[in-house]
Amino acid sequence: MAGIAQVSGADTPLFTKLKLPNGVEYEQPLGLFINNEFTVGKANKAFEVHSPSTGKLITNVHEAQAADVDIAVDAATRAFEEGPWSKLPPSERGVLLNKLADLFEQNVTTLASIEALDNGKAIQLARGDIAGCIGCFRYYAGWADKIHGKVMDVSSDTFCYTKQEPIGVCGQIIPWNFPLLMFAWKIGPAIAAGNTVVMKPAEQTPLGALFVATLIKEAGFPPGVINILPGFGRDAGDAIAHHMKVKKIAFTGSTLVGRTIMKAAAESNLKKVTLELGGKSPNIVFDDVDIDRAVEWINFGIYYNSGEVCSAGSRVYVQEGIYDKVVAAFKKRASANVVGNPFDENTFQGAQVSKVQHERILNYIDIGRKEGATVEVGGEAHGTEGYFIKPTILSNVGLNARVMQEEIFGPVCTIAKFTDIDDVIKQGNGTNYGLASAVHTKSLNTAIEVANRLKAGTVWVNCYNSFHAALPFGGYGESGIGRELGKEALKNYTQVKTVNINLA
Ligand code: NAI
Ligand code: MG
Repeated sequence: MAGIAQVSGADTPLFTKLKLPNGVEYEQPLGLFINNEFTVGKANKAFEVHSPSTGKLITNVHEAQAADVDIAVDAATRAFEEGPWSKLPPSERGVLLNKLADLFEQNVTTLASIEALDNGKAIQLARGDIAGCIGCFRYYAGWADKIHGKVMDVSSDTFCYTKQEPIGVCGQIIPWNFPLLMFAWKIGPAIAAGNTVVMKPAEQTPLGALFVATLIKEAGFPPGVINILPGFGRDAGDAIAHHMKVKKIAFTGSTLVGRTIMKAAAESNLKKVTLELGGKSPNIVFDDVDIDRAVEWINFGIYYNSGEVCSAGSRVYVQEGIYDKVVAAFKKRASANVVGNPFDENTFQGAQVSKVQHERILNYIDIGRKEGATVEVGGEAHGTEGYFIKPTILSNVGLNARVMQEEIFGPVCTIAKFTDIDDVIKQGNGTNYGLASAVHTKSLNTAIEVANRLKAGTVWVNCYNSFHAALPFGGYGESGIGRELGKEALKNYTQVKTVNINLA
């Protein structure tokens, strides 16, 4: 189970007081959140939660299994069909989302600190995550009463219209790299559209979502509308994916598990599926750029959030005329990133989320070496405590090398040369993924041609990892199905009903 120890739930309370390294003290819920109450799992099991920056145990959290999924889905079904939620005017859903945003604002320090503790990310980046959550809630709060159908003029004997109806109980399974931001991206559109939710946070990072459960209750969401089940993928996650009363599933995580989610939907009730999966995104630098500015963006593109980003710019392509200069500048820039204690305000790159991921990344660096790559900088663990890795650049990597094709999900990128647009389009589109991409150039024509020809859900021009709640995000190819954020995401959480009235 991803190296996470399962323990008896008997010694695990429902709440514990935590004191974090930056002095923040708060009460951390440890139970399953169903019907607005914290409870123990039916099997009375719990699992260990570790701090990635020390490797030490933080606490145990109660574990949800299949029987608990049944209870949570029943609660969410009742809330959807009979509870006050089912009769709530859409604008009131917006009010609730705005209240949740307000509570995030009031608790920003605690929330960011929990993320730094549980995920190991730098606190300065964690604060950015919380700002992203607030922006997402407010954006979808605005949509809540603007989701509507159309009237179609078909003939003088009929009156025909469509409605955009919520789907029902939505299963949402999220990863550990942005524990709260992915939570917000998922519940924002689902709640705005009037659905109810059974959410499973990643087993590596359950703490933030459970703390947010208290804010959900405080904001005034009726019982059963948002239920949160900490637990493992192969048990609670699999039960959600196979559940006959879960009408829609949204998943963010590995492509491997994405496939099993689709299979589970096919094997059960054909629940609607959206998937946000991996990536191996090209970050392309033409020779007309200001080198220092471009290097800032390639540095941010790969090392932001310790490289644990689905859209990470993990394949850097530089036009041959400036290749040597960019490599030299990038090496210098990468080495200057402050790696270490997530609670240090100067830290840019914190810890990798777990021992498993730490080993996985180091193993990929090893694979790269064996494939003939040159390690330009980094290439090893940073420090001896916790799961840190030095910012790493690999050059001399072939198009078909594993480190050029497979998602490493850490602070490791490849750097390669290209001659012209045709060459870089061929290399850039040379994986099965298609999540994100970027082009750096002063030429508008080059930017637009490259943007047109890249097979990716997002193309950044002269920037990288720039997100906004209004901008749809999602993958071409094996990077996923459907789009999150923006008006697009509402399509995932509504279904169209056509009403055709015979007036003759
Ligand atoms: P994962 O895909 O196993 O985990 C993501 C979520 O899926 C977690 O909540 C997990 O509990 C759940 N899950 C796992 N197996 C499941 C199943 N059979 N049914 C239902 N839910 C299930 O990712 P993992 O193993 O933690 O990381 C491995 C690699 O996946 C990473 O190195 C990275 O390449 C990729 N990944 C990509 C992410 C993204 O944002 N696109 C996020 C996390 C991981
Ligand atoms: Mg896994």
